[in-house]
Amino acid sequence: MKIFIAPEAELASMVADRYEALLKAKPDAILGGATGSTPLGLYAELVRRNKAGKISFKDVKTFNLDEYVGLDGSHDQSYRYFMNKNLFEQIDIDIANTHVPSGIVTENCADYDKEIEAAGGIDLQLLGIGVDGHIGFNEPGTPLDSLTHVVELEESTRVANSRFFKSIDEVPTHAVTMGIKTVMNARAIILMAIGKSKAEIIAKTLQGPICTEVPASILQLHPFVEFYLDPEAAALLK
Ligand code: F6R
Repeated sequence: MKIFIAPEAELASMVADRYEALLKAKPDAILGGATGSTPLGLYAELVRRNKAGKISFKDVKTFNLDEYVGLDGSHDQSYRYFMNKNLFEQIDIDIANTHVPSGIVTENCADYDKEIEAAGGIDLQLLGIGVDGHIGFNEPGTPLDSLTHVVELEESTRVANSRFFKSIDEVPTHAVTMGIKTVMNARAIILMAIGKSKAEIIAKTLQGPICTEVPASILQLHPFVEFYLDPEAAALLK
């Protein structure tokens, strides 16, 4: 496990360097994507480097972590919409090579794991973290061997995400998410966390016991995991 602490403005560029190195070594890499506020700076930097001709996504395939149940890709709060707008439409990726779990057809969501496997497995999975320790939408109590599945969202997650909706009532109650095992199967993982609201959970995740109550704590067992934190998110690390 490696931990990098730097001001928010530098984190995006540091993580983008990791992507640049990976794509140089493996132009057809399989990337695991995340949504939320945290990766926005990184995605802007990847777009910038793509437009500058430094990196290409021409042969890349992507698999996103999660999607709200009930929202299709045309809904402006769906994660498919987020990814198209903030990354895919701005880079040279073939949109057919981008995958986000369906929030509408959720019956066979474990097929998502088979698709990932058939593509060769994820080379680099990007993660944010919820204040309750969720990764993807694997909320506290999720079994560590879970594959892609439908979850009921914690109230704290719905409240945190209501900032993007007109009211909390509009925030979906369920989501489809890669499971913890799906995430742990990635060959390398980068978790980014920014801001003081993440400080407590970052300390528990990195230095607390590994337990299902803090889903992200399982990352301590991953052989190639890197944490990119701003000083506020790292404030409670010993
Ligand atoms: C999003 C996701 C979530 C977020 C987490 C943090 O695809 O899987 O686990 O990473 O909720 O969200 P932000 O970055 O908005 O604080």
